[in-house]
This record gives sequence, structure tokens and C-alpha cells, in this order.
Amino acid sequence: MNAIFHRTSVRRYTDEAVSAEQIELMLRAAMAAPSAHNQQPWEYYVVTDKAVIEKLSHATQFTGFSADAPLVFVACSRKDSPVPEYVNIDMSASVENLLLEADELGLGACWMGIAPHEDRMECVNEIIDIKEGLTSFALIAVGHPLKEKQQQDRFDPDRIHYIK
Ligand SMILES: Cc1cc2nc3c(=O)[nH]c(=O)nc-3n(C[C@H](O)[C@H](O)[C@H](O)COP(=O)(O)O)c2cc1C
Repeated sequence: MNAIFHRTSVRRYTDEAVSAEQIELMLRAAMAAPSAHNQQPWEYYVVTDKAVIEKLSHATQFTGFSADAPLVFVACSRKDSPVPEYVNIDMSASVENLLLEADELGLGACWMGIAPHEDRMECVNEIIDIKEGLTSFALIAVGHPLKEKQQQDRFDPDRIHYIK
């Protein structure tokens, strides 16, 4: 899959909006992820309101760049998921799928960690007035990349262990 070997974190975007079709494709990819017990713990908020994006950009000291993004997804998980110990692992698979689809669409995206930090989760939950039964997991800023960025080659044969 080309996107795996092309995706990088993109933190600077043009002003161009992300289309409704592109948003749906990214969410379809996010919801196609594997999950423990097939529990699918995810729900997503799609934020294009500039004022809310600005507030979310203050959620942590590492999220400031996202104030200029045309779109921010808030990946959330259901608190009543049947296998709670796997929820954040499932969420990670979902967010990675979303990032890869963003790359496939020619968009740039960056994951911003919120869970498992309770203070960050509460902050995001309050800003979006989150639905009962959900909590925030991550923010994902998305937009049209301001410039092309090369992926780093991180392949390291020393980290591979064969048992023959
Ligand atoms: C769990 C997680 C949390 C992250 N949080 C942030 C963040 O808060 N701010 C940010 O700019 N990048 C964040 N990143 C992106 C990483 O910095 C980035 O993936 C890493 O530097 C590798 O670069 P690459 O994505 O371009 O391969 C996060 C990535 C992950 C997986």
C-alpha cells in the first residue's frame, strides 16, 4: 500500500477546505479498522468551526499548530465497550487507518495524543460538549499540505529477530 510508505505527519495546511466526500472516505477508513471482539469502540466528531478548532489547539502544549487546520477530527471511544482494556489499542488502529486514507486522498494529517492523559481528555470533552457515554481519545488535524514532505526511512534490520 503506497500510503504506508508515503504518510508523514503534516502540520501546515493551505486554506482550502476538505470536501464532504473526503471526510466520509476518511471516516469509512477509520471505521474499517480491526478491534478486539469486533467491539468498534469509536465515534468521531468532525470539527470545521474555526472557533472550536482554535479552542482545541490549546488542549496540550503540542497541539498549537492545529489552530490553522481547516478540519479537526476528535476520535472518541465508548465508555461501555465490552473489552475496555483493548479500547485504546482499537482506537489507535482506527486513527492510523484515517491517517492513511488522508494520505491516499492527497491530504496531510497529524495525530495529536489526548488519551490516556485524564486532564487532556477532560479538556477536550468540555470543549466539544461531548455526548454522554463517550470520552476523547485523540485529535487529528487534516488539510491540504502547504508543501510536499518526504517520509523518513525508519527500516532497521537490527530490530528483526528470526526464529528458525
Ligand atoms: C500517540 C501519538 C501522539 C502524537 N501526538 C502529537 C502531538 O500532540 N503533536 C504533534 O505535533 N504530533 C504528534 N504526534 C505525531 C508524532 O510526532 C509523529 O508521528 C512522529 O514524530 C513520527 O513522524 P511521522 O508521523 O511524520 O512519521 C503523535 C503521534 C502519535 C502516534
